[in-house]
Amino acid sequence: MKHFVSPSLLAADFGNLARDVDIVNRSVADWIHCDIMDGVFVPNISFGFPVIEQIKKVAVKPLDVHLMIVDPDRYISRFLEAGADILTVQIEACNHLHRTVSEVRRLGMKAGVALNPHTPVSLLRNILPYIDMVLIMTVNPGFGGQSFIMESYNKIAELSEMIRTGKYDVLIEVDGGIDTSNAGKLFDAGVNVLVAGSSVFGSKDPSATIRLLKEAK
Ligand code: DX5
Ligand code: ZN
Repeated sequence: MKHFVSPSLLAADFGNLARDVDIVNRSVADWIHCDIMDGVFVPNISFGFPVIEQIKKVAVKPLDVHLMIVDPDRYISRFLEAGADILTVQIEACNHLHRTVSEVRRLGMKAGVALNPHTPVSLLRNILPYIDMVLIMTVNPGFGGQSFIMESYNKIAELSEMIRTGKYDVLIEVDGGIDTSNAGKLFDAGVNVLVAGSSVFGSKDPSATIRLLKEAK
């Protein structure tokens, strides 16, 4: 089973972004998670295209771009041009999700769908054949450094079962409140990709923390 780590740059030092991307480059991390917030879908604003373009120039790993924005359809091709390899939209922000994920894939990116903590995984039943990844938000999106919501384990179990019985080729990613204390339990529960911001960049040795997350049991 795939065990990936996608460090979130939201917790990086924005004054030294290239240095922090390079730390991820040199680590055992698999992807680089970029959180895009519009101040409408979530009560926070992060960064946009010019910053992603700069990250792409330095990054040697795929950019895992998580859109916490309303009406993401307007910007799909712009995120491709900026450097996204995996593009994840929030299910709550999409009226025509099949159209959205089909466009993401048509442009050559991997398509992900993210669910807020209150959104049931049963809503994914008819979209699983058309996507590459589900992102289960394990905190309410908008900010780093929040506490992991325990109910997430039930959602992960239910989603794992749906993917297994349908034989879908879909990764499960979790995001929010992930650290070395819950990483192993999450992999055991069926998670493939851990997103971690503050536990990585807030640690003394981010590269060592990334390794601990990736090898967590
Ligand atoms: C939250 C973002 C996360 C955030 C996670 O809305 O989607 O990717 O960076 O931060 P931590 O790991 O600090 O909970
Ligand atoms: Zn995220």
